Amino acid sequence: MTELKYLNKYLFKYKTNLLLGFFIIIIARILLLFTPGLIRESVNVIDEFRKGNIVSIETVQTELIQNIFLILLAAIAAGIFTFLTRQTIINVSRYVEFDLKNEIYTQYQKLSLSFYKKNQTGDLMNRISEDVSRVRMYFGPALMYSINTITLLIITFFYMYRQSPELTIYTISPLPILSYTIFKLSGIINIRSRIVQESLSKLSSFSQEVFTGIQIVKSYAIQKNKSLEFDNLSKKNKDNQISLVKMQALFFPLMILLIGISNILVIYVGGKQYLSGEIENIGIIAEFIIYVNMLTWPVASLGWISSIIQQAEASQKRINEFLKEKSEINYNLNGLKKINGSIEFKDVSFTYTESNIKAIDKISFKLNNRKSLGIIGVTGSGKTTLIKLITKIYNIEAGEILFDNNSINEYDLECLRKQIGVVSQDSFLFSDSIINNIRFGKEKATMKEVEKVCKIAGIHNEILKFSNGYETILGERGINLSGGQKQRICIARALIKEPKILILDDCLSALDNETEEKIILSLKSILKDTTTIISSHRLSSVQNLNEIIVLDKGKIIQKGNHELLINQNGYYKDVYSKQLTKKDDKI
Ligand SMILES: Nc1ncnc2c1ncn2[C@@H]1O[C@H](COP(=O)(O)OP(=O)(O)OP(=O)(O)O)[C@@H](O)[C@H]1O
Ligand SMILES: [Mg+2]
Repeated sequence: MTELKYLNKYLFKYKTNLLLGFFIIIIARILLLFTPGLIRESVNVIDEFRKGNIVSIETVQTELIQNIFLILLAAIAAGIFTFLTRQTIINVSRYVEFDLKNEIYTQYQKLSLSFYKKNQTGDLMNRISEDVSRVRMYFGPALMYSINTITLLIITFFYMYRQSPELTIYTISPLPILSYTIFKLSGIINIRSRIVQESLSKLSSFSQEVFTGIQIVKSYAIQKNKSLEFDNLSKKNKDNQISLVKMQALFFPLMILLIGISNILVIYVGGKQYLSGEIENIGIIAEFIIYVNMLTWPVASLGWISSIIQQAEASQKRINEFLKEKSEINYNLNGLKKINGSIEFKDVSFTYTESNIKAIDKISFKLNNRKSLGIIGVTGSGKTTLIKLITKIYNIEAGEILFDNNSINEYDLECLRKQIGVVSQDSFLFSDSIINNIRFGKEKATMKEVEKVCKIAGIHNEILKFSNGYETILGERGINLSGGQKQRICIARALIKEPKILILDDCLSALDNETEEKIILSLKSILKDTTTIISSHRLSSVQNLNEIIVLDKGKIIQKGNHELLINQNGYYKDVYSKQLTKKDDKI
């Protein structure tokens, strides 16, 4: 139960509802327990009449009608209170589920990218859905049935013991066996349902992947192979389902068998005691049979509850594991807020721990406010990594990154990131409308502002051509954009932030030369007031910038402006001549 201690704060938070729920359960139980006594009395009246101790049939009738009426009343009242129990305790379990999901989600957002690399998305999703629902079962049904069963056991035992201690012992002796059997059976059912869940999620991820990549599947003509794979997965799922159903099918027959045994014991032992005069009236036997039937489900549920608690414990353990995980990145929310725009790298190094690749190796440069820097280098030379370090997606391993002469660590990271507009290489857009994707950069941006940045990014006219214009939905159920269109929407999204520092990571690569030139030209107007960094494979994207660095294996191998670099032997000059010849070829 140690892991579940984490949830005590919620017990405390919803204590009023829970206490009210417990109180209502107790009342509902007491009301329901009037019934066996009333039945005993009814049987006794008939028995007394038969024996001749009561002569008038009217007395019997009145007594019976009175009892039936009371039984009905107790049942209705107990029903109302049971309904109220669910309204209190089960509701609390839903509140806790809601709180816990939010807590987990907030934690997800805080954690660094390396956490996401270590954990699979499916697993993270599971914690928020499956694990939280198991914990909810602990809060809802488990708590409710525990209180229910405990109350019922205490009161019933008291009533039964008062009537006949010996018969009580015989009646309840099979119940622990029932509880234990159900506990074991629930355990097996849980294991098998988990296996079913796993095979089901394999089946659905497989289908999802095939549907997403349907173009590739068709163009490589591998539908048959994929169908076979699906068949196999589907067959496994079916076998697992059948083995689960076998166990589930045992549940009720087992319960009925054990109730049967208890009933037989009551009739046999009770009958013997009645005949020998140990119990004074036959109604007690009827009363005990009702007790046995009333107790069966709650006692069986003890076994079920234990297995729910076991599962909730395991799930909460998984949840706790990463709720306790600290983000490697310090957000320093009380740090410096504003930047002017100058950046300096002093001997900065960084190694990816996962691959042990030293992506940045002792890099130093200084970029003054409102100046521009180009980063050139072969694929894998470290351009994207360098850019990620500027927004502290990763902590650097050595050296120092400074903004306006203050270390990056002195800044409030959220404020810092808000003032830096990064257009990343992978042009990620959400499945939402174009306008919402752009407003992501500035929530309250007016239509005019949106249009302005779209014009600078050279995408305005193309957006207007879509039938829904700016309201066009992108992504899964919306339209798909071309690579170049996506890149330009991402540029607009970064521009709308009016960032102090604008960083374009190879995000003009999908554009033809002419469009690229046009965008660079229109960007010029804002570049005057913004510190800019552009990484690219193409010299045309960087040649007009104030300073250019050439990276190779994480090191700066050349530095200078375009004029200087084309007159210096090295990578830059080589690429320049190659790209020049290509242009000539085209002409
Ligand atoms: N998330 C990561 N985990 C481990 N290694 C990585 C990761 N991202 C990049 N690397 C490695 O770091 C090196 C630099 O990668 P980076 O993405 O910075 O290169 P790049 O210059 O941006 O390349 P490209 O021009 O293809 O975009 C590469 O060797 C790459 O394999
Ligand atoms: Mg890159």
